[in-house]
Amino acid sequence: MNFELKPMGLVVASTEKCDALVILVPADFKAGKDDLSALVAQALKSADLEAKPGKLLALYRPVQANAARVVLAGIGSGSARDVRTAVLAAVASVKSPSLKKLMICFATPAREEAVRAVVTATADATYTYTHTKSKPEGRTLSKVVVATTNATEVQASFDRAAGIVIGAELAKEWANRPANHATPTLLAEAAKELAQLPKISCEVLGHKEVAKLGMGAFMAVAQGSDQPLKFVILKYSGAAKSQASTVLVGKGITFDCGGISIKPAPEMDEMKFDMSGAASVLGVFRSLAALKPAINVVGLIPACENLINGAAVKPGDVVTSMSGQTIEILNTDAEGRLVLCDALTYAERFKPTAVVDIATLTGACVIALGGVRSGLFASKDELGAALFAAGEAAQDLCWRMPLDEEYAEGLKTTFADVANVGGRAGGAITAAKFLHRFTEKFPWAHLDIAGTAWKSGAAKGGTGRPVGLLVEYLMTQANSK
Ligand code: BES
Ligand code: MN
Ligand code: ZN
Repeated sequence: MNFELKPMGLVVASTEKCDALVILVPADFKAGKDDLSALVAQALKSADLEAKPGKLLALYRPVQANAARVVLAGIGSGSARDVRTAVLAAVASVKSPSLKKLMICFATPAREEAVRAVVTATADATYTYTHTKSKPEGRTLSKVVVATTNATEVQASFDRAAGIVIGAELAKEWANRPANHATPTLLAEAAKELAQLPKISCEVLGHKEVAKLGMGAFMAVAQGSDQPLKFVILKYSGAAKSQASTVLVGKGITFDCGGISIKPAPEMDEMKFDMSGAASVLGVFRSLAALKPAINVVGLIPACENLINGAAVKPGDVVTSMSGQTIEILNTDAEGRLVLCDALTYAERFKPTAVVDIATLTGACVIALGGVRSGLFASKDELGAALFAAGEAAQDLCWRMPLDEEYAEGLKTTFADVANVGGRAGGAITAAKFLHRFTEKFPWAHLDIAGTAWKSGAAKGGTGRPVGLLVEYLMTQANSK
């Protein structure tokens, strides 16, 4: 799907050839002298159209426009949230197999955040999963033209949003694929494919290399599965070699049954999404290839299944992590932190400016923040503030959580340096405190995306989050250098 921004108002937009035209109408809309805006004003005046977000009025072959289908969509205040609501509803209302070219026109000059919302909401409303369907009915929409009179003013925001969409859709795609179609090996192959793009390289380590590195925590999780583990190292080189990298670490559990501490059956299928952190790292690299910022980024993905065979790790087993710290595995379902801690230690070798890990880490984070904001933990306030701000700008929200030392109390054990669980209370925070132990050598942040990486229920599927937040953060880093 291709996005294009055109400098035009209602009158010109209505003469363009397209399958459907969506007109975004704010609450403070004032009609110009042309017929089409007079029609919009009339619809508002008669209350047949409300300017509230989500309210639509569909027209068929109006004489004032070239398109057969025209939808007037209220965007209320014109904020990102209102525009998103409006565009999701409007695009859903015109979605059909014959929809190939769509025009979305702002009736009044667009704000930057509104333009971004149009792009991301249009993508979200039209993404279709087909990978494991015998008769795939994919997305037919191939061209989206966004029209606003002040196009030059909002061009940069538009381009960034379009770049983010490419990556977010890759992340959705991999998150959605069933675990037997998204094994650690297949995930590693997807990473290798990204290395076909300019400035990206990829290396994949297997059991032998990982054993040599001493990644005992990662191997302990992988040993319960017949699928071989993979450790993926992606590099995006957009700046001089001398410039330090930002490292992203994505949890790549391609299926999490809990191991011996097995999960209950209901909704266990959703644990195919447990590699959403890894998928977001793949997505970020896809976006970087499109946006080409002048920075260096490393992506690390420890990928394996958390399953149960005769060799599976058992509650009470003690393993030695790459850092040398010993870990008592009291609950085999707290596996994410085990694969991440070794990847975090591996990250030290890059002497990074910052390390951000992304993980569907805890059910407790879903309880704390639901599906609206990802949990954000940061060892340095500056890094925490930058990530928070990036989330706001990209409309991919997160919320700062604490890292007080008292939260680590429950991780103490007689039988090792640390236990992998610390009781139910504050579960998202104790998980973060566990990771914190492995991040002394660099500024570190952790995004718990257990609630935000996918949606349950009828519209079950990956959301592509937090690709927007991460790309926004990296683009800001590039611009501040
Ligand atoms: N992948 C899960 C976290 C999760 C749970 C994500 C529900 C999305 C929805 C993780 O590996 C896990 O099982 N965490 C345990 C930790 C517990 C044993 C301390 C959890 O949250 O229950
Ligand atoms: Mn688990
Ligand atoms: Zn998990």
